[in-house]
Parts: sequence; C-alpha cells; structure tokens
Amino acid sequence: MIARRGEVRGWGWMVSNRAWLLMWLPILAISLAHYATGAPFYWVHDVLRRLYYIPIVLGAFAFGLRGGLVTSIVVSVVYSPHAFTHVFHRDPAGTLEKSLEILLYNVIGVITGSLADGLVRERLKQEQIAARLAESLEELRSMERQLVRAGKLQALGELTAGLAHEIKNPLASMKGATQIISDEIAETSPRRRMVDILSKEIDRLGAVLERFLSFARLPRFEVAEVRVSELVEPVVALMAAQARQSDVTLDAPACPDDLVVRGDRENLTLVLMNVLLNAIQASPQGGVVTVSCQDATVRKQRYCVLAVHDQGPGVPEELREKIFNPFFTTRDNGSGLGLSIAARIVDAHDGFIEVGAGKTGGAVFRVLLPARS
Ligand SMILES: Nc1ncnc2c1ncn2[C@@H]1O[C@H](COP(=O)(O)OP(=O)(O)OP(=O)(O)O)[C@@H](O)[C@H]1O
Ligand SMILES: [Mg+2]
Repeated sequence: MIARRGEVRGWGWMVSNRAWLLMWLPILAISLAHYATGAPFYWVHDVLRRLYYIPIVLGAFAFGLRGGLVTSIVVSVVYSPHAFTHVFHRDPAGTLEKSLEILLYNVIGVITGSLADGLVRERLKQEQIAARLAESLEELRSMERQLVRAGKLQALGELTAGLAHEIKNPLASMKGATQIISDEIAETSPRRRMVDILSKEIDRLGAVLERFLSFARLPRFEVAEVRVSELVEPVVALMAAQARQSDVTLDAPACPDDLVVRGDRENLTLVLMNVLLNAIQASPQGGVVTVSCQDATVRKQRYCVLAVHDQGPGVPEELREKIFNPFFTTRDNGSGLGLSIAARIVDAHDGFIEVGAGKTGGAVFRVLLPARS
C-alpha cells in the first residue's frame, strides 16, 4: 500500500503494476537471458549479472527500503541456481566473484532504499512546511482584509457623521421656514402646492439623512458577559415568523452552554438579526437556514464562531468584500446597511465577520467573537 505520495506502507505494492513493470518483468527477462546463455559467452554473463542492479535501484526508488531489499533478495534467489548449479547453464565466473556480487545486490538494495526513504521523508516535511506557510499566509490575508475593512468603515462613519451633522441643522431651519411660508399662503393658491412639494422633499432628505446616521452612529455599548445560547435563541425565535412567511425553515441546534462572549447584548443581537435576515431573504422557497455556534482557535486566540448557512445563490467572490460597504445592495428594497453596521459592531468587539461558500452551495456568514473561558 502507498499511503501518502511516495510513502510506502504494507506489502500490497509488491503486486502493483508499477512493481511488475520496474522490477519483476525486468528480473524475469534478465534471468531468462542469463539461464539461456551458454558458458563460453562469459562476457554476456558479466553484462547480464550487472543488469540486475537496474531493477534493484528502480525498486528502491519506487518503494523505498522495502522495495530495494525485497528486489535484491528476489534477484539473489533467482540468480543463485544459475550461479552455483548446472541448471541449464552455469555462470562461468568464479565462485567468490559471484558470491560477492550477490552480497553487493543486497547492500545496494539497502543503501539505495534507505536513501530513497530519506528523500521521501524530507519531501513530506517540506510539503508540511509549505502547507503551514500557506495557512499562515491565508490568515495574514484575512487579517489584512479585516483591518482594511475596519479602517474604511470607521473613516466612512466619521465622514458620514460629520456631513450629516452639518446638513441636519440647515435642513431643520429650512423645514421651519417652509412651514411658516406654507401657513401664510392660502390653501387654494397654486403656490401652496409648490411649498408642499418643497416640504415633502425636505422630509425625504431628512429620511435619507437618518439612514446615513444609522450607519455613522456607533451604537452605545454596555459591555457584559453574554452567554451565546441566550443570544441566539431569542433572535431565532424572533425571526421564526419571518422565516415561515418566506417558507424557509430555521434550523438552530442548541449552542454549547459554556460559550460566553464579552460584549453588548443589544448590538450583538442586531448583528445576528441582520445576518439571519439576509439569509432568509436569500433563501429559495422551502430552503433551510442553519445557525450553529462552536468555539475555534484562530491566531492563538479562542473565538466563539456563529455561523449562518443558507441555500441561496451565495455571494460571488468579487462581491465578498463589497457587501460590507455601506449602501451596497443588490436587493430592490434594500438599504445596504445591514452588513456594514454588523461589521462595525463586530469590529468594536475585537471580532471579525467573514463570508464564504457552503460545501453544498449557498452562503456561509461567520461571526467570530473573542470567547471568554
Ligand atoms: N445570505 C446572503 N446570500 C447572498 N447574498 C447576500 C447574503 N447576505 C447579504 N448578501 C448580499 O449583500 C448585500 C448587502 O447586504 P446588507 O444586509 O448590507 O444590505 P441589504 O440586505 O441589501 O439591505 P438592508 O440594509 O435592508 O439589510 C445584499 O444586498 C446581498 O446582495
Ligand atoms: Mg440586509
């Protein structure tokens, strides 16, 4: 049996196609030629005796120490009757020379086999190091993405808050002035309609401003120890009606009781609600949304991982960062704020949120929050 690439375990390899091709058939061919060669052709015997080294070395490189040793033993056994008895013909070389040759077959088999095993072990070690490096690189990339996202959201939040603040007061003055003008114009006057339009547009601007502010305002935090099961269960119960309406099943196995995070219950509830609502909205009719919680260690830190998995279309690779931007939406009546607010809250908890594809399709959103022991 060949376990990992190049690593040989068990004895099944002895009857593999490779063994036949590299060792057994060449040994058979050399031996037939050897046994059929008459004593006067001593130089042919010399050549054929040395040809045995080829299958021994090939066996060692293909199957390591076991391959080298087994092949050299087989060669010794097959060659011995020809070397020391008169079956068909006898190899005309001296007995000492032939005995030394047989000894050498086995020495070469062991040395080459050990070297080949060493090479395989070294290669496996290098592969493990490469895999670990790739893992670390991926972790670094993910950390970089989280940092860039957090910085971008914070800058956008500050900019939006500043702008909204500057616009809010003049807008309130305009609304007041419009009200006064409106009161002074007769209801039947055509100008009254203009003032009404003005008033409505100011209200619309006010609503837009409110949306901007809902992203910009960093919510108040009341930090406490929160048991994750007590966070998930109420949100799932709250969302059950919405899911039923959309013909979606919520599957939320109980969270381990010992999973505790430190944070603000209201805000974390909001995060989970946004993610769960998106999953329900993305699900097809009859779909299942699974909510699971477990702990995991990432970069030596223990995290509580809340995962929401749906059976919707998933999030295309090129949108996986964009969906966390404020006001990015692909839904007709979406405001594009749900995930950006969730990302800001999670970031304020020193956690991170990421999206990937489920094994069987759909999207998986994972919220990682530092876990308390
Ligand atoms: N589970 C999901 N499956 C597929 N796409 C998703 C999923 N969750 C989010 N998205 C994509 O991310 C976009 C942004 O989501 P986000 O929650 O920020 O805003 P929204 O849902 O569009 O609007 P709202 O502000 O009402 O939440 C969505 O418009 C959708 O394209
Ligand atoms: Mg949403």
